[in-house]
Amino acid sequence: MDMGLTDKVVLITGAGRNIGRATAEAFAAEGARLVLTTRRSDSLLQETAAACRAAGAEVVTALCDVGDEDQVRDAVQAAERAFGGVDVLVNNATNRVQGPFLSMSNEDWRATAAANLDGPIFASRAVLPGMVERGWGRIVNYSGVSAYRGGGAMKAAVKLGVVGLTRGLAREFGKHGVTVNAIAPASIEGERDPGTERDVDISGIDPRLPIPRFGHPEEVAALVVYLCGKHAGYVTGQTFHINGGEILQ
Ligand SMILES: NC(=O)c1ccc[n+]([C@@H]2O[C@H](COP(=O)([O-])OP(=O)(O)OC[C@H]3O[C@@H](n4cnc5c(N)ncnc54)[C@H](OP(=O)(O)O)[C@@H]3O)[C@@H](O)[C@H]2O)c1
Repeated sequence: MDMGLTDKVVLITGAGRNIGRATAEAFAAEGARLVLTTRRSDSLLQETAAACRAAGAEVVTALCDVGDEDQVRDAVQAAERAFGGVDVLVNNATNRVQGPFLSMSNEDWRATAAANLDGPIFASRAVLPGMVERGWGRIVNYSGVSAYRGGGAMKAAVKLGVVGLTRGLAREFGKHGVTVNAIAPASIEGERDPGTERDVDISGIDPRLPIPRFGHPEEVAALVVYLCGKHAGYVTGQTFHINGGEILQ
């Protein structure tokens, strides 16, 4: 199915691994041009870029901490210099500063909010003027299952904040041809930084779940591509749960 994404410029944050990498490769397969960023893991980012170029995509890369508005603006300006503007923004980057609430510091809270909520706000603010000018744009944000079933109060707070951000932007920018949606995954397989928790530990997959396995990053990427493609122009402000039925909305 033609998704209408040929030559669209897609900026993905946190694109070095896992869902971000799978998403980059999925957009490359659609003929999109890519701006791939991550905070510090440049070697992983270059691996993603190489895979996308091998699929025929034009790619630029940039290191960018999404919690730093100047760095986000620089990355968007690099995209504009390379390709003329950003059509699709995928706010994928996250960190996993998690633990018992009373053991977490204010620095932990700031880091959690910076990566997961400041980042989508800064990046949206940087790309939306161009989207409005062109009368077309797509933004995909990431909530997560913790926002709906609890599990890490600080993470849950910012991931539910992402839902509010998504709804607010959808309402404000729909008339400009911009859709904004969120995805709330759970238990997607992938690499984790040493010492950080999984949202659900591998041994914790409940055999009574409707689909009792980990999800694949490619399954999430396919949903992102659909939401950004030409068939989803009437879909905005929604949060899509991709969790094997762990919670039912
Ligand atoms: N996987 C799941 O089961 C699951 C469940 C619920 C929600 N989600 C959501 O789905 C999205 C993708 O999940 P994932 O597991 O694939 O992510 P991930 O691999 O854990 O994180 C993606 C990348 O974000 C980068 N990052 C961290 N802090 C950053 C910052 N301040 N600025 C820029 N980049 C930063 C990291 O790269 P560096 O090493 O360069 O910092 C990391 O490689 C996330 O938003 C996540 O919250 C996933």
